[in-house]
Amino acid sequence: MSTIIFHATGGNPEQWLQSLKQVLPNDTLRVWQAGDIAAADYAIVWKPPAEMLAGRTGLKGIFNLGAGVDAILQLGDALPASVPVIRLDDAGMGIQMAEYVSHAVLRYFRQLDRYDTQRQAQQWRFLKPFQKQEFSVGVLGLGVLGQRIIDAVAHFGFPLHGWSRTQKDLTGVTCHSGAAGLDTFLRASRVLVCILPLTGETQGILKRENLQKLPQGAYVINVARGAHMIEDDLLALIQDEHIAGATLDVFEQEPLPAGHPFWSEPRISITPHISALTMRDESARQIAGKIHSLEQGHAISGIVDPSRGY
Ligand code: NAP
Ligand code: GLV
Repeated sequence: MSTIIFHATGGNPEQWLQSLKQVLPNDTLRVWQAGDIAAADYAIVWKPPAEMLAGRTGLKGIFNLGAGVDAILQLGDALPASVPVIRLDDAGMGIQMAEYVSHAVLRYFRQLDRYDTQRQAQQWRFLKPFQKQEFSVGVLGLGVLGQRIIDAVAHFGFPLHGWSRTQKDLTGVTCHSGAAGLDTFLRASRVLVCILPLTGETQGILKRENLQKLPQGAYVINVARGAHMIEDDLLALIQDEHIAGATLDVFEQEPLPAGHPFWSEPRISITPHISALTMRDESARQIAGKIHSLEQGHAISGIVDPSRGY
């Protein structure tokens, strides 16, 4: 029987505890409160305060209620170095990312925003279609979610490019890797999708120097983290008409502040960090399965390498 402490910034602890109790009926679960230093075997967290984890060397694992672990790793020395951090592996996010990105790619490719604008003016006007063979989709990040996006977009027959840290070999995808492969990847990507983890190496990767290497009329989709993007650089390139527009789910500051210039740029579609939500029951099942495996001494997937940052 294990003791588990729980904290999810912005989440509903009662609902989470209900889901977790169903899959961990023999374990003791409690919502962590400030000042709680009583022993625990596991922590289940989203954006935890440093105080919750500092000095807890007795933990056997810290489960992150999301795929991105940037908010945990930024705790730095407050994070007990010997305790593994475990991210969610898909857990229902892959299909959501596939839906979101496919929709954004198709909306741009089929010029549906332009037809909407025409519809508002009661205009019945044919727009010259884009040629699919000239419409490569490039995905930055070929991990769990990046590959789900690639699989979904592949159904529509777009030429595909992907970029990762280590070289991949994916059927039907021209794969690029590392700093040496970035330039060719960018020049080939008419639509750029960012689904990278936020690390020291990837922060600010969507900056002018890189974005201007995209072909004229490129479209940008960011579903990773706001800090991947230099927002002023994107805006300037859209205003210069080098980039045709963007669909953004994540921002440097969330919620996106009132008066931010993105709100008044019609070529930017905005959603409030919903491209792939954490699915409560599915995530609880995945975490429970991993706790059982760890208790039996079995290996699990999803352990974060702190030196890589993901
Ligand atoms: P993952 O499985 O860890 O995949 C990460 C991918 O990024 C891997 O292909 C990795 O390369 C590549 N990568 C990492 N650092 C790189 C670098 N320096 N240069 C080139 N490639 C690099 O992660 P995931 O589950 O797909 O999730 C990705 C991110 O999506 C999360 O970290 C999170 O921030 C974001 N996310 C956002 C939402 C949302 O709602 N907006 C929801 C879920 C997740 P290798 O394959 O070579 O290791
Ligand atoms: C959400 O943003 C996640 O990282 O799961």
